[in-house]
Amino acid sequence: MTSPHPLPHTRTRTVKFPTAAVAARYVAKEIDKLVRARNAAGKPTVLGLATGSTPVGLYRELIRLHKDEGLDLSRVVTFNLDEYFPMTRESQHSYFRWMHETLFNHVNIAPENIHIPDGTLKPDEVDAACAEYERKIAALGGIDIQILGIGRTGHIAFNEPGSPQNSRTRLVTLDSITRRDAADGFFGEKNVPHHALTMGVASILEARRVFLMAFGEHKAGIVYKAARAGAHGSHLR
Ligand code: PGA
Repeated sequence: MTSPHPLPHTRTRTVKFPTAAVAARYVAKEIDKLVRARNAAGKPTVLGLATGSTPVGLYRELIRLHKDEGLDLSRVVTFNLDEYFPMTRESQHSYFRWMHETLFNHVNIAPENIHIPDGTLKPDEVDAACAEYERKIAALGGIDIQILGIGRTGHIAFNEPGSPQNSRTRLVTLDSITRRDAADGFFGEKNVPHHALTMGVASILEARRVFLMAFGEHKAGIVYKAARAGAHGSHLR
């Protein structure tokens, strides 16, 4: 696990795990420890959350910790990385729906503490809503733990390689490989939206800790490149 776009003050570490389940348990335990400490102090925990196949094991483990080991998530505030645009909440493709089905419906995170970029905005509402998303994160003191996957192109959230290091939550145009990779879920590439709302590289890297998880042979090449770019402090190319 590593961060592909390190800022000068960022310390990165790559850790290999024998299986995805072991890695998921490791990250879940880190979240568990922080949430319990913050709960004991009566303070919120701010989590940045991702969609995709990568974090599914982590969310299963968080549900287990909540149901079997008394992990209370009522003080947790979440910010999701991205959402297709435009996208209704009810759509089978929406990240809003996916997050509720995969995690939120099974734990006690308060609905008012859940934030997901809004795919139902009118185009002229987007800029103000993106600025408001950033403002809310800042008002809470920033993200404590950010969960990240990495796409085959090297994207983090919907920031494709080359996205500015100072980028913020915004509307982006999706890369053709990213759209092709999503095509199966949409029953064909022509149905995949051309745009998405995404947190920016700066919004993501301001988190106190970032866990970038990647599993499977198909991610090996991009993880190698990301780790190398991280070691040299440069962007992916
Ligand atoms: P995946 O997607 O978790 O489904 O591999 C990662 C990504 O595209 O960011």
